[in-house]
Amino acid sequence: MSVFPSVGNGKITVPSILERKSGVSSQHSSPAKITCLTAYDYPTARLLDEAGVDVLLVGDSLAMVVLGYESTLPVTMEEMLHCTRAVRRGTRHALLVADMPYGSYHDDPAGAVRNAIRFVKEAGAEAVKIEGGERRLDLIARIVDAEIPVMGHIGLTPQSVNAFGGFRVQGKTAEAGEQLLRDARAVEAAGAFAVVLESIPRELAARITSELRIPTIGIGAGPDCDGQVLVIHDLVGLSFGHQPKFARRYADVGEIISRAAADYCRDVQQGSFPSDEESYHARVEQAGALFAQRK
Ligand code: KIV
Repeated sequence: MSVFPSVGNGKITVPSILERKSGVSSQHSSPAKITCLTAYDYPTARLLDEAGVDVLLVGDSLAMVVLGYESTLPVTMEEMLHCTRAVRRGTRHALLVADMPYGSYHDDPAGAVRNAIRFVKEAGAEAVKIEGGERRLDLIARIVDAEIPVMGHIGLTPQSVNAFGGFRVQGKTAEAGEQLLRDARAVEAAGAFAVVLESIPRELAARITSELRIPTIGIGAGPDCDGQVLVIHDLVGLSFGHQPKFARRYADVGEIISRAAADYCRDVQQGSFPSDEESYHARVEQAGALFAQRK
């Protein structure tokens, strides 16, 4: 399998993402904000890549939006690798980042590095994402040392759902905000090339963004980050249940699929699908013989 992305022709790379940090561009105008969406399969990856999305993230949110779990905790390395390979096959220009699932980096650091290497070697990821701030400093540094770019992720880190007692906005008090600032600095010091800020007050996200030299990518963190990320199922109306207020719905694909399926059932039951034009036909000279056999 060829998994090595060819650089050039608008290919987004880790250095080109770093150049998109506001205030450090060589151009006079501020650089375009970084766009990131999740993708978990080949057709979605192709569509998002061709639409010009900068970063495709094979998020462990696939546990919830694709596999139907209540949290991201159950998804396995094998499931993440399987989806990352499919996204790799559909991605030409975007930077492909794979989420390291819960349990793949939480016990021994050597095992964590081996798991990160699997995403690159077996699935074609160009970077991995790891949740956690200060306490991941050593681990991020080790993975970066193994030549694998790391995207950090702080704030509402969904793998901490049990520790947080639910999916709650983080960093609302001065003390919690200070801790998140320390987390952001630690992720940068460890060598991460970008950091996701999830569900934190926009004022705090703005402060972190202005302090760091690496780009911040917000989700529920307000408009002042260097980029934004959303879960594709939320964006197109394919998710069920509570929709967080930051998850703007750009389309209702769920409604389109439901209507198409109901129309199909109706046509099959009424006998109007398939039509004669949608059927194959025997050659004229064979048709007589076929009918003769059936008698
Ligand atoms: O798993 C995921 O989709 C994520 C993004 C929401 C940042 O981590």
